[in-house]
Amino acid sequence: MNVDVAIIGGGPAGLLLARLLSQAGASVIVLERQSRDYVLSRIRAGVLEWGAVETLRQAGVGERMDREGYVHEGVSLAAANAAFRVDFMKACGQPVMVYGQTEVTRDLYEALDRSDGVVVVQQAEDVQPHDVETERPFVTYRKDGIEHRIDCQFVAGCDGFHGVCRQTIPKAMRTEYERVYPFGWLGVLSRTEPVSDELIYAQHERGFALASMRNANLSRYYIQVPADQKAESWSDNEFWDELRRRLPDEAAETLETGPSVEKSIAPLRSFVSEPMRYGRLFLAGDASHIVPPTGAKGLNLAVSDVRYLAEGLVSALKDDDERGIDIYSARALDRVWRAIHFSWWMTSMMHRFPDQTPFDRRLQEVELRRIRDSPAAQTLMAEIYTGLPYEGNFEHLDRSVASA
Ligand code: FAD
Ligand code: PHB
Repeated sequence: MNVDVAIIGGGPAGLLLARLLSQAGASVIVLERQSRDYVLSRIRAGVLEWGAVETLRQAGVGERMDREGYVHEGVSLAAANAAFRVDFMKACGQPVMVYGQTEVTRDLYEALDRSDGVVVVQQAEDVQPHDVETERPFVTYRKDGIEHRIDCQFVAGCDGFHGVCRQTIPKAMRTEYERVYPFGWLGVLSRTEPVSDELIYAQHERGFALASMRNANLSRYYIQVPADQKAESWSDNEFWDELRRRLPDEAAETLETGPSVEKSIAPLRSFVSEPMRYGRLFLAGDASHIVPPTGAKGLNLAVSDVRYLAEGLVSALKDDDERGIDIYSARALDRVWRAIHFSWWMTSMMHRFPDQTPFDRRLQEVELRRIRDSPAAQTLMAEIYTGLPYEGNFEHLDRSVASA
């Protein structure tokens, strides 16, 4: 089989890329290791930046999101039982959309079922890119015991943090940056009414807590737990008691509890592998970078990477113009590092660290008061939380850096 682009990984990055490329008339194959049901059962991100919302609309998958998603015009930050609201509309003029990653993924799969020139293979085993440093890359995989070979012009590595694509790049050709945090988030999904119309990020001496939601009868809550803990060791009642202690009283008193529908622990990590290109292989999303979920940036970065990459690949395929793919890595990484910084900052401000001194605690407290009392600080936070514009001025990027 011969296609324009072979996409490895059928998470949000791979599916969106397939959709944007097929809209432009390119032929693509998506090779996903898991079944569709498995991919759709993973509960992950919930907040979409406004630019991601617009990208999904342009990809023709915005209809259900616009009907069932929730536009949030602000967020609450809380500490020591006092909460304040950051009004996104006042601070920066754009809201966010609360719509689960599971739903985004479902909408993309359904759109791809109807798209021309797209093949999606589930449960593809031993997927491996080859010869990506040449003009004629190809990808091999096995399905139901049969070996397959896909010849292509480009390979997109959208296979997440544990995928094969990043590992294909020789170690000497990439630089990795990493911070592993000494805690994780225990997340619970429950069929209960959300405690608040907007998200609450709570700093507390017992550890961070987050109240989020999926819809009017589906809540998503998280609490910070030590890195070595297991979700199974927390009963539902223990989770609710701990969450109640950490939320501001007003929310804790009205918290509706119920059986958990899903309970899992996500470790917290910041990670970047540079560059995002090696020959004809391009990395996008978690395959190239990870952020702690505190800034709600993981899924949004996958969307912005894919937007830049789709633009570059379409110009290369249609007009033989490689400027977009030459600049892809530098353009995406500029945005990635802003998100890495924001997520690190939010994480540092909101969590309890094991080696924290009273001095550090005071700094966290004053940081929150600074946001509460300063419209300028609120603008700085809101414009990144709701999403920086995609169209920055990238003229300053040196071509030698851009094509690295
Ligand atoms: P993924 O969603 O990881 O998709 C990669 C796909 O590639 C997967 O379907 C995988 O099965 C497939 N794959 C992997 N290896 C291979 C292979 N060898 N061959 C073929 N296919 C392969 N972000 C937030 O903003 N908020 C959150 O609360 C949040 N919670 C998270 C919880 C967890 C446990 C994890 C892992 C991530 C979380 N994230 C969160 C981050 C967010 O979900 C990711 O940033 C987002 O899923 C990135 O999309 P992606 O398509 O790049 O990667
Ligand atoms: C979620 O709803 O899962 C969620 C929301 C905001 C975050 C992280 C996760 O920062």
